[in-house]
Amino acid sequence: MSDYYRKKIHSDDLIATFDDVLILPGFTNFSPIDVDLSSTLGKYHFKLPILSSAMDTVTEENMAINMALHGGLGVLHRNCSFERQLEMVRIVKRARSFVIDGEHVATIGPNAQISKAKFMMENYNISGILVTNEENRVCGIFTKRDIPFFEHDIKNGIVKDYMTKDVISIKPGGTREDALKILYESRKEKLPIIDEKGMLKGLITKKDLAPEFPFASKDDQGHLLCGLALSPRFPDSSQSQALLKEIDDYVDIFFIDVADFYKIDDITGTIKLMKFLESDFVLGNIGTYQAAEYLITKADFVEERFIGLKVGMGSGSICTTSLQTGVGAPTLFATAHVADAIKDYNPKLTLIADGGFKNPGDLPKAFAAGADLMMSGHLFAGTEESPGFIDTIAGRKVKVYRGMGSKEARTSGYISDRYVEGSKMLTEGVSNYVPYVGDVLGVLSTLKEGLANGMIYAGAKSIADMKKVPLGIVSVVGQRETAPHDLIGKF
Ligand code: XMP
Repeated sequence: MSDYYRKKIHSDDLIATFDDVLILPGFTNFSPIDVDLSSTLGKYHFKLPILSSAMDTVTEENMAINMALHGGLGVLHRNCSFERQLEMVRIVKRARSFVIDGEHVATIGPNAQISKAKFMMENYNISGILVTNEENRVCGIFTKRDIPFFEHDIKNGIVKDYMTKDVISIKPGGTREDALKILYESRKEKLPIIDEKGMLKGLITKKDLAPEFPFASKDDQGHLLCGLALSPRFPDSSQSQALLKEIDDYVDIFFIDVADFYKIDDITGTIKLMKFLESDFVLGNIGTYQAAEYLITKADFVEERFIGLKVGMGSGSICTTSLQTGVGAPTLFATAHVADAIKDYNPKLTLIADGGFKNPGDLPKAFAAGADLMMSGHLFAGTEESPGFIDTIAGRKVKVYRGMGSKEARTSGYISDRYVEGSKMLTEGVSNYVPYVGDVLGVLSTLKEGLANGMIYAGAKSIADMKKVPLGIVSVVGQRETAPHDLIGKF
């Protein structure tokens, strides 16, 4: 058994966290421009090794779209019905792609009411809908610009009276260049793919052809990558099973989402789910070498679709699991332990360090301890893209951030199996406010710079190099000295 990563933090017994360690400076034999922050999760590539947590005050469709557009991944939460999850994954998958397949193109009948078309455009976050008859033949296109001005017309108007009838289109099999040329010449935003019989075969949109987001995390077809949290319980009703199957068509990666996954019931439930579904799976959370060893070597998961482990227990900013139960494995400790097990038993698995990140400088530390990707709720909860309203407290803009084990989150009923099933009285998280911090791009840019600069000081050009850099334990006095100190005023 190797203990490479654990040795780095010098002790097996000391449960070290981010503030306990520092990376030692290394020789930098490359230019800042050569630093490569990209990472992988199974067959998926990320330009930015950053994920947003599956929490109902952090990741819904807006956050998931923006995280993927900027090179990371937002994992949609599970504190809702399968119907709502299906709606979220559909929106994420439809957000950006080169070609939207015919069956996924939003369409409306010519005799539908304008109000319905307006509702669909708002709901799917799209700017136009193809109008097709019962045989799926295209008879027009209705865009936001066609919505009449007066409320009376919106209420009573019929799509065919307001749509554009002369639809500019492309034949199936046209190239990206053909599509770009037609869109440029016609000054249109959307280009339906229509065959010689007039049937709708797909849709190309200008924004997806000319990528404004060169770092976006995309699948083979150019759709944004989509991750979704899932309970390890196999659903009882056939209706839920059917919905889950539909969700499976859109999702790339399911994240089994429980506080402690090293439990036989969760493992058997997940094995059943993996056999029923076809997408890839990340399992978690776990906190020790032994848990990872067991999951990798003893549990009967579908091997080729078990692509990662998510680690860290009780060190999240809203977590009270360790306080309430006395059990925990802070993210840095868990990362070092699980990284060793992955190295020993299945180096192809990806390790996601989850929770406890406070400063940009915590990111390099997680990678040095053996992580491939990091996940945070706290750093993203206060952004524009997180769900919920911006409130004002004592003149400061704030947003609500709540643990999934908090009383507030658990009253919904969907999330109780994230903790100990049947436990009703004990909360394992809190709900509070975090400062509003503007858009997620700003936060990601700061994190990106903190990580890149850390890698430059450490002399590591890539995330793989980062795993080789040495960490050292800082004394309590040293910790005080590494933060601002001996100044007038309060930090
Ligand atoms: P941060 O530090 O980013 O941590 O706020 C987010 C991670 O914490 C986990 N999580 C919880 N853990 N009680 C817990 O013990 C909770 O109520 C809770 N809610 C979320 C989760 O792994 C998340 O990614």
